[in-house]
Amino acid sequence: MSKLFNCLENELAEIYDAEKQLTKALLKIANSAQHDELKTAFFSHQAKTEGHVRRLEIVFGILGIKISDRRCRAMQALIAECEARIAENLGDAALICAAQKIEHYEVATYGCLRSWSQLMDFDEAADLIEETLDDENDADEHLTALAVQIVNPDAGDPDEDEEMDIAHAARQGTPGRD
Ligand SMILES: [Fe+2]
Repeated sequence: MSKLFNCLENELAEIYDAEKQLTKALLKIANSAQHDELKTAFFSHQAKTEGHVRRLEIVFGILGIKISDRRCRAMQALIAECEARIAENLGDAALICAAQKIEHYEVATYGCLRSWSQLMDFDEAADLIEETLDDENDADEHLTALAVQIVNPDAGDPDEDEEMDIAHAARQGTPGRD
């Protein structure tokens, strides 16, 4: 076996575990999102992620690779960061940032997997990997659009409690808080 085939085997095992971790994590992430559009985007990507797991199983079959139980620590850490943002209650802007780090990790991995598969003439595997790569890029772009158009502008507004404090202070004739 070539070194490149070993690279392919290792990275496939890692991303397979990563996708499986994500199928669970995305449910929690989706349920934590405050904007309906973002919630829908996360639930929709969760369904796609189930498909990514199945697609990888087909790739393993095509390449004759046995599925290993390798753990993807990078995805564990990225998911832990998402969970930390949820616990910090910083809202959807922070959640999108953490989720986009996950998408970029996946884009980097699938990009390498596709290139290596093409180089070794595993065309069918390369095409399947490219389909998932396209899904990940679409998800990333959609998150950027939601952040720019809806989530970030909302996060830039004073929150409701602060607005009530300012209105109350104005009625009392005292300056509002900074
Ligand atoms: Fe995925």
